[in-house]
Amino acid sequence: MRAMLRFHAVAAFLAAAVVATAHASAAFPKICTLRPLGAGRDDTDQVEAAIARCGHFGTTIFEPGEYNITRKMTWDLAYSRVDLHGYLSFQPDIEYWLNANNTYRVIFIQNQASWFVITGHDFVIDAHSKGGINGNGQPWWSYFATRTRKDGDGRPVAFTLSKVTRGVVKDFRIEAQPFWCNAVADSREVIYDGMYCNATNQDAAFAGQNIVPNTDGINTYRSDKITLLHWDITCGDDCLAIKGNSTNIVAKDITCRGGNGIAFGSLGQYVQFNDIVDHVLLEDLKLLRLDPQVQPNLVSGVYLKSWTGTVHGSPPTGGGGGGGFVSNVVTKNVLLDRVSRPIHLYQTNGGHSSDAPSKLQFSNMTFLDWTGTSQGSLLVDIECSPAAPCPNMRFKDVNITVVNGTTPTYKCVNVVSETGLPGCNVTGAA
Ligand SMILES: *[C@@H]1O[C@H](CO)[C@@H](O)[C@H](O)[C@H]1NC(C)=O
Ligand SMILES: *[C@@H]1O[C@H](CO)[C@@H](O)[C@H](O)[C@H]1NC(C)=O
Ligand SMILES: *[C@@H]1O[C@H](CO)[C@@H](O)[C@H](O)[C@H]1NC(C)=O
Ligand SMILES: *[C@@H]1O[C@H](CO)[C@@H](O)[C@H](O)[C@H]1NC(C)=O
Ligand SMILES: *[C@@H]1O[C@H](CO)[C@@H](O)[C@H](O)[C@H]1NC(C)=O
Ligand SMILES: *[C@@H]1O[C@H](CO)[C@@H](O)[C@H](O)[C@H]1NC(C)=O
Ligand SMILES: *[C@@H]1O[C@H](CO)[C@@H](O)[C@H](O)[C@H]1NC(C)=O
Ligand SMILES: *[C@@H]1O[C@H](CO)[C@@H](O)[C@H](O)[C@H]1NC(C)=O
Repeated sequence: MRAMLRFHAVAAFLAAAVVATAHASAAFPKICTLRPLGAGRDDTDQVEAAIARCGHFGTTIFEPGEYNITRKMTWDLAYSRVDLHGYLSFQPDIEYWLNANNTYRVIFIQNQASWFVITGHDFVIDAHSKGGINGNGQPWWSYFATRTRKDGDGRPVAFTLSKVTRGVVKDFRIEAQPFWCNAVADSREVIYDGMYCNATNQDAAFAGQNIVPNTDGINTYRSDKITLLHWDITCGDDCLAIKGNSTNIVAKDITCRGGNGIAFGSLGQYVQFNDIVDHVLLEDLKLLRLDPQVQPNLVSGVYLKSWTGTVHGSPPTGGGGGGGFVSNVVTKNVLLDRVSRPIHLYQTNGGHSSDAPSKLQFSNMTFLDWTGTSQGSLLVDIECSPAAPCPNMRFKDVNITVVNGTTPTYKCVNVVSETGLPGCNVTGAA
């Protein structure tokens, strides 16, 4: 399979990048070591000073503990290694962070805010499964539980990679992300090997409700050759969200606990841009339902969505009308635990019934080796746009059981060609 070959090429490439980086830091053995200043003190200055001194041609070592971070921070890294044995703890001063002057807006899509940005090339950040970021999300979730949330409203992404080339993030933990856990934008040749994110509400006042929407595991945008290995994501939204111009993406060994599942999109929000998603391999996925008192949702295994062909207002909250395509996607070895609708594709996101149909086309998608359970009996619901019917939808060894024993149903609308789903209705296609 072509996607597999590409995966191995990417893995070999990244191994070379790590070796190169290790050599670089051996050749430039500048070392900065930090320890937390202690309760009530602000660590932001010392963290910035260490990265300024050792972030190029050097190694920065964070001893264990919590580092108090009180303002936005960018690390520019080149030929550099960071060993993060503790947590960068971003203080939950909500009013402060919501002031647009106090975050960065480096992720173009939906004008999302970031409080911590990594940029540069040829680096390794290794948190040794002992450190990372503490997002202190609980006050954020409780605050927004009774307020309107909007894309671009300033809730910060916990960990943003922007304009990175050849970067490695290893065994990194993000506790209680207030909003998206990760974003990678305008980057290439990045490997995330070991990532943990956990947005779990513990405010009893909201038990049984999903007050952690938008806590996506990652959004990828305008990025090429991004590899995600060994992820464990607890969230109330998209476990992974593959957005416009994500190409050569590999995700392997991904556990998603609660939320909406793995998303492609939304795509086509910006009328002036084509969103291209090409060559994506998702392999060894687990979608697990949580205790409904903790997180009521586990919607899909994989779902794909585009806006309609009509523009309704402008982004970040409105939009539509954008073109592009999604193609050459393989999902393989997927285990479902009581999802609502395993596979779903729709092209009416944010739309009205009288809208022009989307011109963004989905094609060449393979669903291989799916097992486990669904709460809904509609296992596959593929509703392609009449203006861009889907060719070449392939299903093989998709064997999902409906929990209450009802007979599974499948729906294929505007599908040009499909194999492997006996009885999936192929309608509306030219
Ligand atoms: C973080 O530093 C600020 C001073 O800028 C201080 O007011 C606050 O108490 C510190 N927070 C913690 C958790 O130490
Ligand atoms: C942001 O900074 C600019 C320039 O210093 C200032 O004019 C503006 O009032 C600030 N905005 C807020 C919301 O504080
Ligand atoms: C996520 O955090 C909650 C609350 O602290 C905890 O109960 C749960 O075990 C964590 N999940 C994982 C996978 O670590
Ligand atoms: C995606 O890339 C294509 C060219 O390959 C470009 O025309 C388009 O504007 C890009 N879309 C976005 C969202 O940047
Ligand atoms: C879909 O696959 C077919 C057959 O392999 C190929 O000819 C076509 O170019 C692919 N479409 C896209 C958009 O890559
Ligand atoms: C089984 O679940 C499906 C989907 O939720 C529902 O439509 C159906 O009525 C249920 N059947 C029984 C026998 O409970
Ligand atoms: C489908 O899965 C069920 C339950 O795991 C199993 O009993 C059955 O043999 C499987 N069917 C096929 C065709 O693999
Ligand atoms: C296919 O469509 C026909 C007519 O609309 C319907 O009777 C049948 O149940 C559908 N089959 C499946 C598997 O969804």
